[in-house]
Amino acid sequence: MDNFILANAIINSNVDSNSILISKPLAKKLDLKNEENIIFYVGQTKKILKVKIASTGKDVLSFSLANIVFKKMYLKSSQKYGIRSNDNEVHIGPVVGIMADFFNDTKRPFGGQTHFIKQLLISGKAIGQICFAFSPYSVDIAKGIIIGYTYGRRGWIKSAFPIPDVIYPRERAYSRTKLQMRKRLESLGVTLLNPTLVGKWETHKLLMENQQLHKFLPETRLATSFNEVGQMLKKYDGVYLKPVTGSQGKNIINVTKKKASLIYEFKYMNEERLVKGSAGNLNNLKAYLRKVMGNRSYIVQKEIKLIKSEGNIVDVRVLVQKDNTGEWDITGIACRIGSNGSITSNISSGGSGKKIEEILTQHISLERDRRRIMDDIYYLSIEATKTIEKNIGQSGEMGIDLGIDTSGNVWFIEANIRPARQVFNLIGEPDTRLKSVERPMLYARYLAGF
Ligand SMILES: Nc1ncnc2c1ncn2[C@@H]1O[C@H](COP(=O)(O)OP(=O)(O)O)[C@@H](O)[C@H]1O
Ligand SMILES: [Mg+2]
Repeated sequence: MDNFILANAIINSNVDSNSILISKPLAKKLDLKNEENIIFYVGQTKKILKVKIASTGKDVLSFSLANIVFKKMYLKSSQKYGIRSNDNEVHIGPVVGIMADFFNDTKRPFGGQTHFIKQLLISGKAIGQICFAFSPYSVDIAKGIIIGYTYGRRGWIKSAFPIPDVIYPRERAYSRTKLQMRKRLESLGVTLLNPTLVGKWETHKLLMENQQLHKFLPETRLATSFNEVGQMLKKYDGVYLKPVTGSQGKNIINVTKKKASLIYEFKYMNEERLVKGSAGNLNNLKAYLRKVMGNRSYIVQKEIKLIKSEGNIVDVRVLVQKDNTGEWDITGIACRIGSNGSITSNISSGGSGKKIEEILTQHISLERDRRRIMDDIYYLSIEATKTIEKNIGQSGEMGIDLGIDTSGNVWFIEANIRPARQVFNLIGEPDTRLKSVERPMLYARYLAGF
């Protein structure tokens, strides 16, 4: 167990605005001396206070402040907060900001992430953190204030918050303004829970540098011209074309070569509808696909012959996360099943979920093979996560997509730095889902040194 301390915060009108009254047991735990000056931190907001150790030696861990200090330091009375000391500093919380895209909708201010964010806020508060959600556009760097939201009994409450210790970045597009905001906040002392992920091509290249991973990586090339697509189609019966920075299965194309008829069949999703077509030669194929691909950068990847459930493709989502120990661990594994004939399994495009055990018993007859597949899934998701982290910098969680082919081989498909956790509800694992929400908050505590 770590030595994390929770203390009661009390408003006391007998304490002057330059002092902090600390119960004896808490002063002992924090190694504070009577009359010593400390810098009191809530996030990046600080104030110098003189320590007064309470003479009544009650058996409680508590600290008291004047009302005005309470307000200035964003504290609420009769609440328990995490607390730590370091030399002459005392830190409360930690303060954790969830940075997400904001929508003008009082019921769902964070769009599809509203429920998730609500759960994050509740789980953070339960472990003594000061948590709020905010838009990257509501930060006042000069004043050191962020206008953010908490969730209370009467719904969403808007108020001012300090620049936090840790930010859990959950905003969608990585526009220049948003990236600049991340940099600015970092320069103020904020630690980001996750860096930005490099695209699919960069990820493939950096994973290729790890020899141990080679056998799990389907051949992938950057489609600098349509020649690469042609070459890959000479080598393989099927390929996947995927936008380098795409997500949610959008703009993905599957092309298969029909040897007997010498035609290329292609499939892609257009506004949730599966579009199918065929071309008699590569030039025609190129002309058709140009419309779908637009000016985006694509990779072309060998098609993995994924196992199927009732005719629909199945793949595996592994959620890899850190907690307050700072170590990587697998929080949950779920299978995703594409909807009717879909070429992708993404939940956001209609996919459903099933437990991995169920899928494996259905498809793999030998217990020994099932065990080897599970070992590969564990090994590959952790090793890929660590390899990516080594390259992109300290990270807190990753959603790894894997495939199992009809011969029982495990393949790496892609890594996500903003993973959803819906799938765990779909497979009837609310505990896994809850754990997936708690872990980033626990990792935030680790990052803030608590
Ligand atoms: N090489 C491939 N072979 C077979 N299926 C694939 C391949 N690449 C992707 N898929 C399917 O498409 C889905 C989406 O691809 P993915 O690379 O995860 O992109 P996205 O970022 O859009 O989720 C995968 O979850 C999988 O079902
Ligand atoms: Mg994916």
